[in-house]
Amino acid sequence: MSHPSLYPVSAKAKTRTHITDDVYQEMYRQSVEQPEAFWAEQGKRLDWITPFNKVKDTSFELGNVKVNWFSDGTLNASYNCLDRHLAKRASQVAFYWEGDEPGVQKTVTYQQLYDQVCQLANGMKSLGIKKGDRVTIYLPMIPEAAVALLACARIGAVHSVVFAGFSPDALGSRIVDCDSKLVITSDQALRGNRATHLKDNTDAALGHLGESNPVQNVIVVKHVGKNIDFHNGRDIWYHELVASQSKTCEPEPMNAEDPLFILYTSGSTGKPKGVLHTTGGYLVYAAMTHQYVFDYHDGDIYWCAADVGWVTGHSYIIYGPLANGASSVMFEGVPTYPSVKRIAQIVDKYQVNILYTAPTAIRALMAHGDAPVEGADLSSLKILGSVGEPINPEAWNWYYEKVGSSQCPIVDTWWQTETGGILITPLPGATALKPGSATRPFFGIKPAIVDNEGNQRDGVAEGNLVILDSWPGQMRTLYGDHDRFEQTYFSTYAGMYFTGDGARRDEDGYYWLTGRVDDVLNISGHRLGTAEIESCLVAHDAVAEAAVVGYPHDIKGQGIYVYVTPRVGVEPSDELTKAIRAWVREEISPIATPDLVQWAPAGLPKTRSGKIMRRILRKIAANEHDQLGDISTLADPSVVDILVNNRLNRK
Ligand code: WT7
Repeated sequence: MSHPSLYPVSAKAKTRTHITDDVYQEMYRQSVEQPEAFWAEQGKRLDWITPFNKVKDTSFELGNVKVNWFSDGTLNASYNCLDRHLAKRASQVAFYWEGDEPGVQKTVTYQQLYDQVCQLANGMKSLGIKKGDRVTIYLPMIPEAAVALLACARIGAVHSVVFAGFSPDALGSRIVDCDSKLVITSDQALRGNRATHLKDNTDAALGHLGESNPVQNVIVVKHVGKNIDFHNGRDIWYHELVASQSKTCEPEPMNAEDPLFILYTSGSTGKPKGVLHTTGGYLVYAAMTHQYVFDYHDGDIYWCAADVGWVTGHSYIIYGPLANGASSVMFEGVPTYPSVKRIAQIVDKYQVNILYTAPTAIRALMAHGDAPVEGADLSSLKILGSVGEPINPEAWNWYYEKVGSSQCPIVDTWWQTETGGILITPLPGATALKPGSATRPFFGIKPAIVDNEGNQRDGVAEGNLVILDSWPGQMRTLYGDHDRFEQTYFSTYAGMYFTGDGARRDEDGYYWLTGRVDDVLNISGHRLGTAEIESCLVAHDAVAEAAVVGYPHDIKGQGIYVYVTPRVGVEPSDELTKAIRAWVREEISPIATPDLVQWAPAGLPKTRSGKIMRRILRKIAANEHDQLGDISTLADPSVVDILVNNRLNRK
């Protein structure tokens, strides 16, 4: 069956919308021509303790990069997400929590969330946590995760959430990097009926750190109810800590540019980067994008099926929706447990109006035909969202037709941990859709396409995606390493923020994201640096050298293809391959587990100066070894033939 390549804005979406196309055009023009006036107006969507007079103070000039917004204003993020809603919404549900196991559920109203946040905030204060201290949060998708983030924000502590799928070592390095005094975790996490031992992992992480362990206390949520080791004097049960605490806690006045959180993400070098976001600009941007991109209206039931361990969870489960007084579904589990019908069942159960998920989930379900949507009433849905990687047209069409009954616009939202919120996206009532395109820039965003020399390309063009001017949700620095921040994002193309992504702009000015142009992989919408996996591999006793590349994968978007040269005397075997995969899984995370491991006893293709030629390795991994291009600069071209002959991804 052939599908349209353009979907005009539906009449229904037009009547419902905050923003029609005319309004988009006019607001966009103002946002880029008069950013000061535009953002001064948008800043008013928050409640300020001291109103701002300054709006924008930014520069992308290398050596002098600065990103300051609303910088003489003061506010508190948790106040904006909670207190200010109570008069009207005390008994409105903030979260419909759906547990991993069907039938396990809970609702949390705005009043209850407020009470719990104040109690935990007071509890943290009683442990000596104060404004500016860093707190690491290592929790499953449970209401306490929302409470923990907001309690930090309330007292001005800077949260650093570590995804509950990360290993003890990954957790430990993130704790040390930002010098956290406190960890908030739970006994275990459950996803698809599989337990992750979060408290054991925390103990292991802190144990490995030895002398350099900065953590004084560990707060433990009793979630699954399993026995754990308890370190007296250090560990505290969450329920015991909060039980005696008052349900009021004055929100700490924060400067708009005071840090709100750190979130670690992968880059093209080995060490994860601590992306730092601040309070005022981030919250304005998260709230505004949540309202307009999802066309959120009072009373809508909204479900972002991401995890709070990623930026999507920060901006579009916690801060954006709560700042807007929204009612959200929060889901602990996975789309395929107990069956592939789970997403549809949850939509039906809570009569979800807006669903925001990732292409990898859509592809996993799509493989089961109609089964994932059969038997469920999905007629409540009005808007569908996609995030994390390009959505291929097949997946787009399945999502549109099967989930949205050809009635719901799909907003394909392009953004990054670094951008704080959505930058390129359709608006449901304004933008005609093209499957596979993230379409047009959001308000205030000036994307451009540059060639490898940094020359801007006008009109229809393909190249590197850069952003020419700042927006309020932009990251401010890399925690503790401003120089790396400048080098990573502003040194490649002078005066521009480099996204690391490639993009094409078509005749309608629509953007089509073409994937990373750096050594960053996108596995099921999760970002992983090849260097990170490589340094893990070479730390294994059997491995002399390793190179990691991505290759096209039907469900995950990209799979992880590993080339390993064994140490002298080591004989490759199936057992060893298994051990290597398990090693990476344990050392980093299950999401980093190599899909294909090719032994390269004869070595890897290198230039005469010793640089591994990844371009060739990518081609072999993609089964495109007939398109290797010029290999004349190789030190020893014969290794290429050996690798091609033993390649693992044969079609
Ligand atoms: C990278 C950022 C944004 C929250 C989740 C990921 C890729 C993200 C899209 C999209 C094409 C996308 C990019 C980007 N990406 N959304 N709609 N279309 N690519 O955040 O872990 O910081 O990863 O994800 O490559 O640079 P992240």
